[in-house]
Amino acid sequence: MAAIRETWNSRTAFVLAAIGSAIGLGNIWRFPYITYENGGGAFLVAYFVCLFLAGIPLLMLEFSIGHKFQQAAPGSFRKITPRLEWFGWFAAGVGFIIVTYYAIIMGWSMNYTYEAATLGWEQEEGVYADTRYAIAETDLEDMAVLAEVPDSLVGRSFVSPVTAEPCVVCADPAGDMTGYGTILVAFGGHLYGFNTVDDANAFMGSPGDFFFNEFLGVTSSPWDMGDFKWPLFIGFSLAWIWIVASVWKGTRTVSKVVYFTVLVPWALLVVFVIRGISLSGAGQGLSFYLTPVWSNLMSGKLWLAAISQVFFSLSVGFAIMIAYGSFLPKKTNIAANAMIVGIADAVTAFFGGMAVFSALGHHAESLGVPVSHVVSSGPGLAFVAYPHIITQLPAARLFGVLFFLMLLTLAVDSAFSLLEAVTASVKDKWNTSHGKANLIVGGLSFLLGIPMLTGMGIHILDIADHFMNSFGLTLVVLGEVLIIGWGTGAEEQRQYINRNSGLQIGIWWNVCIRWLIPMGIIWMIFSEIRERAVPYGSFGLRSQEFLFGWLIIILLPIVGDLLASAKGRGEGL
Ligand code: PFF
Repeated sequence: MAAIRETWNSRTAFVLAAIGSAIGLGNIWRFPYITYENGGGAFLVAYFVCLFLAGIPLLMLEFSIGHKFQQAAPGSFRKITPRLEWFGWFAAGVGFIIVTYYAIIMGWSMNYTYEAATLGWEQEEGVYADTRYAIAETDLEDMAVLAEVPDSLVGRSFVSPVTAEPCVVCADPAGDMTGYGTILVAFGGHLYGFNTVDDANAFMGSPGDFFFNEFLGVTSSPWDMGDFKWPLFIGFSLAWIWIVASVWKGTRTVSKVVYFTVLVPWALLVVFVIRGISLSGAGQGLSFYLTPVWSNLMSGKLWLAAISQVFFSLSVGFAIMIAYGSFLPKKTNIAANAMIVGIADAVTAFFGGMAVFSALGHHAESLGVPVSHVVSSGPGLAFVAYPHIITQLPAARLFGVLFFLMLLTLAVDSAFSLLEAVTASVKDKWNTSHGKANLIVGGLSFLLGIPMLTGMGIHILDIADHFMNSFGLTLVVLGEVLIIGWGTGAEEQRQYINRNSGLQIGIWWNVCIRWLIPMGIIWMIFSEIRERAVPYGSFGLRSQEFLFGWLIIILLPIVGDLLASAKGRGEGL
């Protein structure tokens, strides 16, 4: 029984661990695809506004909650009032669902480390256009390439197997596509026309086709399971073994591992950015990334995407930073730590975006299409764009392996921060051993991830990602700012932060916590629901999916309440 709460080895170790939790797939995988989906530049502006007005103030809030109450999230809220313990479990529950699909992406990265070693994503030419998707052999419903478009098909619609978006067969595809002619390829919700089978093959043999069709075997909807992919299972299992092994001994090992998992990936990312921006066509991608279309800033949906990306990226609203704050020594510097973590995280995301968008620019140039059409967006973007850059590097295999190892090292400390937060909550309440709590939480999450290893996996992942971020994280944050800002008092919390910080924060913090953040979130959620008449993400909105997403959000507080009313045996009670 830990009479004295474990603390970090040093200030640097804490900052690195918090940065380690913050910087992860959110920066390199999620940030670019959400930016792409939301049209580039304007999203970036909204992102930085949300970072400074919401993300960093909330980091200060979460660190200070943990530091003050010396408990993980459920225990901290229980100390405010026992009636609020469920809320801490709710936050942990949202994080738990997120880590479940997060590990899937880590699994993909494991597999891609291998694919990079063999350059497996470079498909042989000639396999696609004639047999797999040829018109004569397949049903219209699941076809990606239409060879020799016969008149009888022109005008008929079909569902793209890649994105599940409806496409219409036309004799003469849109003018901004690569030429047009006898072969049409439905890809990423767009129809591309090619003059020769060779051109179509070159396109279909791209990393994008490999990822969706070969690697994931993606089906056309979340209700169509497709095949169970054993290679994904292996990658996924290895990812979990790595996560559990790194977290095994609590904060002491965390303190050492993070030096490696934070600093090495940074160096590699710099290499990727340099290579990315030196590719021809990169400028086109970067201008999509950096030039804002100001009118887009009127959309609540864009702001919700930005704020929830900030929360995801900073690990705010997951119960993580509360637990990490509780491991801080008494004498510390809350405000400065939050600033460092927030800025380091945003800079990394920005670089991740530079790398991806320059690759997209290059890819768009080689296909002769605009950047906005180049690839199916959504959770697959990083797995299409990065291989594209990698293939252009001199020692492609080496860089490929290093890159995916980098993604993994970045991701592993985020995943274990979550595991640590939930484990600390379980430990605080039931006094179970660290190892046991880890195994239970990790094991449960592993089992829940298994359905995502089938052809419908990316659909489920997309839905879970969308709901957990847009509604899960934002509702947790909304609860936090209402409880502290209006319940226990923003001013009291600010003074607490200032007593424990060299850097003093002004009254602006209270304004953010009491007014800006709650009002902003409520406005965004309402406008998102209103704008939801149009499809979300890349897989379209169907009412069953919408219900399924909300069901999880509603179930979480109920489970939280059950856990809160369960009898505990922990030291914090
Ligand atoms: N901040 C993390 C990231 O940007 O990747 C988000 C995260 C996801 C943390 C999943 C923890 C986690 F389990």
